[in-house]
Amino acid sequence: MDNILSTQDLSRDFISGRDTVHALKNINVRFRPQKLTILRGRSGSGKTTLINLLGALDIPTSGKVFLEGDELSGAPQNQRDAIRCKKMGFVFQSVALISLMSAYENVEFGLRIADYDPKNRKDRAEEVLGLVGLTKRMHHRPGELSGGEQQRVAIARAMAHRPQIVFADEPTAELDSHTGLQVVWLFKKLIEKEGLTIIMTTHDPSMMEVADHVYTLEDGEIIDER
Ligand SMILES: Nc1ncnc2c1ncn2[C@@H]1O[C@H](COP(=O)(O)OP(=O)(O)O)[C@@H](O)[C@H]1O
Ligand SMILES: [Mg+2]
Repeated sequence: MDNILSTQDLSRDFISGRDTVHALKNINVRFRPQKLTILRGRSGSGKTTLINLLGALDIPTSGKVFLEGDELSGAPQNQRDAIRCKKMGFVFQSVALISLMSAYENVEFGLRIADYDPKNRKDRAEEVLGLVGLTKRMHHRPGELSGGEQQRVAIARAMAHRPQIVFADEPTAELDSHTGLQVVWLFKKLIEKEGLTIIMTTHDPSMMEVADHVYTLEDGEIIDER
């Protein structure tokens, strides 16, 4: 299997009033398993729209998304939801942890929602919090953690249920550049240790060195690939 995820002439239009916004125009991208791919581009270039389509959170206007060779975009909603819950994880710019729960409880709660084997939830939550370097802080609540630590809890929660692909939409946008780079290096470590495939968006040029693959978007089109 060469690509874990790919698109074919993927387009997404948004109709607002009388105007149609062509947010994505005939996008053809491929993602290799166990790699870190960055989608870069200015605000409004279509990064979030693409992530939402790849993650089956949205339906294309035309074109297709393939997951391991099967068309994801054409599957019925309940099947898309099931695939998303089992095979995908998501990290967002604003961390969205539950403030009354400790780091451990946030991750354990995520495992519960993902219907992860109850017998193994505790061990798995502790294991992933260890992987993101938070063993000593796992009983702290989000408010007692730094921004970077909170994002690491969110990453642990996104990957605890052993998804194949983790999508991270501007996960470093609210962090300083040093802390942001640490998050990207953590992604590389998780790819190595857990066999994840990670697709992240950013508009920070300093992250590009660390990525295996970079697509640059402009006005809904891929203008560069390396
Ligand atoms: N729900 C929506 N309704 C109307 N326009 C939208 C919607 N979502 C995104 N867009 C438009 O699509 C374009 C791409 O947006 P987006 O994918 O959010 O870009 P990025 O994540 O790169 O900042 C923008 O012009 C944006 O205004
Ligand atoms: Mg965006």
